[in-house]
Amino acid sequence: MALTEKLTWDADGFTLAGHRYRLQQPGRPATADDAFVFYKDRGQLEQFDRFFTATGLAPQRVLELGIWDGGSAAFWVETLGLTRYAAIDLQTRGDSAYFRAWQAARSPEVASTHWGVSQTDAAALTEIIDRRCLRPLDLILDDCSHHYGPTLRSFELLFPALQPGGYYVIEDWAWALQPEFQRRDHPWSRFAGLHPITHRLLDLHGSRPDVVASVLVFPDFIALERGPAEFGELDVAALTAHRPGGVSRAARRRLRRLRHPRG
Ligand SMILES: C[S@@+](CC[C@H](N)C(=O)[O-])C[C@H]1O[C@@H](n2cnc3c(N)ncnc32)[C@H](O)[C@@H]1O
Repeated sequence: MALTEKLTWDADGFTLAGHRYRLQQPGRPATADDAFVFYKDRGQLEQFDRFFTATGLAPQRVLELGIWDGGSAAFWVETLGLTRYAAIDLQTRGDSAYFRAWQAARSPEVASTHWGVSQTDAAALTEIIDRRCLRPLDLILDDCSHHYGPTLRSFELLFPALQPGGYYVIEDWAWALQPEFQRRDHPWSRFAGLHPITHRLLDLHGSRPDVVASVLVFPDFIALERGPAEFGELDVAALTAHRPGGVSRAARRRLRRLRHPRG
């Protein structure tokens, strides 16, 4: 059954398994007493339906980066019927009362949230994965900083913890290409876009299909399938092919100077 078929939609969100999910709107409160405030829209959820249909993935163990108000935590546990789910967030605001009530009605080992953890904190991430018995992971969702550096670092830290055939999802990869982010006065205008990461990871797929077996691209997320290769540390730059004899950085600088001589 498609994820979205389990939802009953209304004006500002939906109901799922007796719980209210209110979609986050700009300028509206980030938490509520009577609902989860959920940072996704209907179009994004329909893309996830297409993803699960295309891959046939039925995950049991999931790690998510980015909690916000706990809406996605409850959503993934309920819609996917997860046995193990953990999520981290850099903020320290803690779970809402609505989330705590939802969690208390479930077995304590099913879902946990870990506040004050950075998406690049290797030691903390490893400790959570081990303590929560998440290995091998079936699915990792990065809905976190949406910045290039930390997103790539998390991928390098966490992709090896997936089992072959598991998927690593990076959400909102195209934010800097979308119309609302083209405004010069947008608060995110000072940040570099995330989208170059898709080229970088496609290059890794092309170089080492035994590491990244396939790549699925949707408007609001990219999904990378873990291949069968055995490896400990994942160093994207080291695993990506670079042809010897290609134009070096110094040679490119010399070419630029020839084309655009100063004075
Ligand atoms: C888009 S929200 C998550 C939304 C949630 N997954 C949902 O669908 O409702 C992004 C979250 O990532 C957190 N975050 C941002 N940068 C982070 C970082 N470097 N490490 C950990 N969490 C971070 C923010 O505090 C925020 O709560």
